[in-house]
Amino acid sequence: MRFTINQKTYDADVDVRTSLLDLCREHLGLTGSKKGCDHGQCGACTMLVNGRRINSCLSLAVMHQDDEIVTIEGLGTVEDLHPMQAAFVSHDGYQCGYCTPGQICSAVGMLDEVKKGWASHVTGDLGEVSLSDAEISERMSGNICRCAAYPNIVDAIREVAGQSGEEAIKPAPRTASEQPAQEKVSA
Ligand code: FES
Ligand code: FES
Repeated sequence: MRFTINQKTYDADVDVRTSLLDLCREHLGLTGSKKGCDHGQCGACTMLVNGRRINSCLSLAVMHQDDEIVTIEGLGTVEDLHPMQAAFVSHDGYQCGYCTPGQICSAVGMLDEVKKGWASHVTGDLGEVSLSDAEISERMSGNICRCAAYPNIVDAIREVAGQSGEEAIKPAPRTASEQPAQEKVSA
């Protein structure tokens, strides 16, 4: 099977029952996405697939051979953090950090949903989505933080939401040296 993850192409011979999360963590060495529950309840495994956030523990890898997958490793680099990563750092939006990759991927996907005008359960005016704390909390409710860093996570997301431009919601472009390469991985 062939996958495009963080703008890099991977060939992997894996069992068709392999989840997208296990493909990344166990077969491709992309361990940034975490496994908390493996049951779709904690959000630690959140990735962006074609720009939309999903729980990768609940999705079979075989379904994503034609998709653009972004994990936390693809959002930014240590030298060039994605705005959401930088905001989590500056607002201390974590303690142990286990949930953080999923929180950040989810927050990036969530802001894109808001930008598209998608309503949530708490949206009052369907014609205009304003990103109140209640909206942020509701939209991030699928991402659990055992350390309860929620107030700081909300602060970080609010800061990025206040930034204008595509850079706030899009994964950072890769440099030329990071452009697609072939890797053969066997299960
Ligand atoms: S590990 Fe996927 S939702 Fe918990
Ligand atoms: S920072 Fe520890 S679980 Fe969220």
